Amino acid sequence: MRRLKLLLVAALAVQCAAASAEDGSAGWLRYAPLADAQQYRMLPAAVVLLDHSPEVQSAARELSRGLGRMLGHPMLEGAAFSAMPKFVIGTVTEVEERFPQWKPAVQLKPEGYAIATVRDGQRTDWVIAGADVRGALYGAFHLLQQVAEDKDSASFITTSSPADQVRWVDQWDNLDGSIERGYAGRSILFANGGVRPDLTRAGEYARLLASVGINACSVNNVNADVRMLTPQMISQLARIADAFRPWGVRLAISVDLSSPKAIGGLNTFDPLNQQVIAWWNKKVDAIYAQIPDFAGFVVKADSEGQPGPSQYGRTPADAANMLARALKPHGGVLLYRAFVYNHHLDWRNPKADRARAAYDIFHPLDGKFDDNVIIQIKYGPIDFQVREPASPLFAGLRHTNEAIELEITQEYTGQQRQLVFLVPLWKHILDFDMRAGGRYTPVKQIVEGRSFDRPLGGFAGVANVGLDTNWLGHPLAMANLYGFGRLAWDPNLMSSTIAEDWTRLTFGNDPHVVSTIDAMLLSSWHIYEQYTGPLGLGTLTNILGSHYGPDPQSAEHNGWGQWIRATHDGVGMDRTVATGTGYIGQYPPAVAQRYESLETCPDDLLLFMHHVPYTYRLHSGPTVIQYIYNTHYAGAQGAANLLAEWETLKGRIDEQRYEHVLRLQTYQAGAAIVWRDAINDWFYAQSGIPDEQGRVGYHPNRITAKSMRLDGYVPVPATPWETASGGKAIACLHRGVCTASTTFTRPAGSYTISVQYFDYRQGVSTFTLLLNDVIIATWKADNTLPGNTISGDTSTRYTLSNVALHPGDVLKIEGQPNGGEPAPIDYMEVTPYSSSR
Ligand code: GCU
Repeated sequence: MRRLKLLLVAALAVQCAAASAEDGSAGWLRYAPLADAQQYRMLPAAVVLLDHSPEVQSAARELSRGLGRMLGHPMLEGAAFSAMPKFVIGTVTEVEERFPQWKPAVQLKPEGYAIATVRDGQRTDWVIAGADVRGALYGAFHLLQQVAEDKDSASFITTSSPADQVRWVDQWDNLDGSIERGYAGRSILFANGGVRPDLTRAGEYARLLASVGINACSVNNVNADVRMLTPQMISQLARIADAFRPWGVRLAISVDLSSPKAIGGLNTFDPLNQQVIAWWNKKVDAIYAQIPDFAGFVVKADSEGQPGPSQYGRTPADAANMLARALKPHGGVLLYRAFVYNHHLDWRNPKADRARAAYDIFHPLDGKFDDNVIIQIKYGPIDFQVREPASPLFAGLRHTNEAIELEITQEYTGQQRQLVFLVPLWKHILDFDMRAGGRYTPVKQIVEGRSFDRPLGGFAGVANVGLDTNWLGHPLAMANLYGFGRLAWDPNLMSSTIAEDWTRLTFGNDPHVVSTIDAMLLSSWHIYEQYTGPLGLGTLTNILGSHYGPDPQSAEHNGWGQWIRATHDGVGMDRTVATGTGYIGQYPPAVAQRYESLETCPDDLLLFMHHVPYTYRLHSGPTVIQYIYNTHYAGAQGAANLLAEWETLKGRIDEQRYEHVLRLQTYQAGAAIVWRDAINDWFYAQSGIPDEQGRVGYHPNRITAKSMRLDGYVPVPATPWETASGGKAIACLHRGVCTASTTFTRPAGSYTISVQYFDYRQGVSTFTLLLNDVIIATWKADNTLPGNTISGDTSTRYTLSNVALHPGDVLKIEGQPNGGEPAPIDYMEVTPYSSSR
């Protein structure tokens, strides 16, 4: 036992505090003490490092920290030849030197790992061997997660290698500390025009990323700031790289192609100009001088107003290769985004189609990109919608490296105020067989490089964590970040496996908790799709602003090309080869045939591919219009069910996260009703076809605010109209306090009262609900929703259950405006308590 020292003296001391402060900061790396630690008594209590790289040191520290907390005893750093059993961590080469009789069971790919036991005289050591130092770190995290999930120790013995080499997350952080499409606070990396002085969170983030095998992070907005490449900024970026490095996460940045002109003093940024080439070469050398393990660049060019090679009549290949050649001598790569399209399309032209853009632009360039260029392709041809077909470009590049771009930040999928577990959506795309060359070529194998024998490829995920303590805002949204990493490592994993692993790590192993949260996660995408945009319509949100609340009209009649082509007679984009935009012809023949024919086109993409009458009958039975109505009701019910399922967890998980998710699920259940009514009313107005079940436009329990007795409140229009009853709400514009009252005329009984109001980002109005002048509820409109108008972005529901009411009772809502928010109200709904449960 000589030369033993306590590796983590503090581990046990902080254990209790960490377990009780469930603020989500630990993510899935909680290392909560295990109920049955005894089952792991065969695991060593000492750890030996064969390698002193930062990654292997992190691995050893993490193992000590994790096992110390979970098993309740400190870990010791043991001398290599001491008699006690130990974990031996290093690279395969180092382990083989130490144990000449040992070899990994299978050949590991770069960054892979092997976990094994080795008999050494009287004792059994545990080996965690990486193909390289990153692999060793990933192996340590893997073992810790197995223990946290209470897995049988026999299953710890394993080998694993990543399917994909590129496993990057992108942060869309701006230098001022804001985050483009970020929903969890300000940047952990930047503030006030530079890198934050305190990068503690950056280091913690890298640890989370490493724990699921993510090996690089591009740290700034793809709409890149030219200041990213100034000498001062490069030195500051080196500090982020230092914070990431112990966790094997390499730094990357997005660059603006016009930089040589914007900050370099040149009068051009033409990628074929010699001075421009020399400028980039020098710039890249300067980066590597300070950040030797720099991963590379991400480029958004000729897209949504970003400068690009088209300005000089050059192609994306010209631009990409120029940058790639500067990076190549240093081992860097260039991810060039295929998200290039014209956002000034002519909506009157029935052949115009944004979905065609990526393939039209990049397919002709196939084979013209250098080997260290990777084309980064969003999963669908539009823009991270709740449902899209797999981008045809995946099969359209056979001599070019590809990466799939996924969006972890829930831009079009509820913005982390609503639960949407995205792994099933991503799996749906990854598993989609493109039938390239008439053979099995699922997207996952194409991006891995397997299908077309490419040297490089993988995954890029837009993560956008922020300074919020729990990283992403909604505690359950972390399942998406976790799932992204797991899929990038192994895209064959099932959604249910990922959901279960994450839930166990995040909330513990109580079977009821695990099965409830798993079921919530796994149903959530479908539910969200149902109450937003079914049948391939896309999210039907406000595409010109927040990308959050319902606003189908915003997609139409403008140059952005997210049209759904809803008319009085029918709906959907005709993308057929026969009569439409020809988009379907971009797919390999077998897929194209399936989409081209109404007989074989799947219902869930019908309106993405075809324009059909509202009365068109789906394969599943109902007409298109009836299906739209039905799914919106089903989706809203689904969101209510998510809340009810969560409520069964009371007392079974910590109060802190229980209450947080409860608030969010309550909000989501209300938001789903807003969506349901807005979309159904809009389609009813378009089609004039009533709901067979008589629900749409008929709300017998609702009293619209404008029909109440108003004192101070005045009717005001909602924009868009379908986001308030009859297009109007009431607002308290010129008074300190306004009221709206109604006399209850229905039979005596117990009722649930819901008040639908609008909660702006600005201001905190106070609402008070009175029954016969006695206060029965009061609440504040203090949510930070994305808007300051009466719209679906801000519409919110407050519900009070089990209220005894009698005919003649007077219900009054008192609204007190604040900070520019005029305490707006849409309606009050009074539902018999028995039917509202
Ligand atoms: C979406 C998003 C933008 C982003 C763009 C991109 O359109 O709304 O904020 O810049 O995607 O991926 O480049």
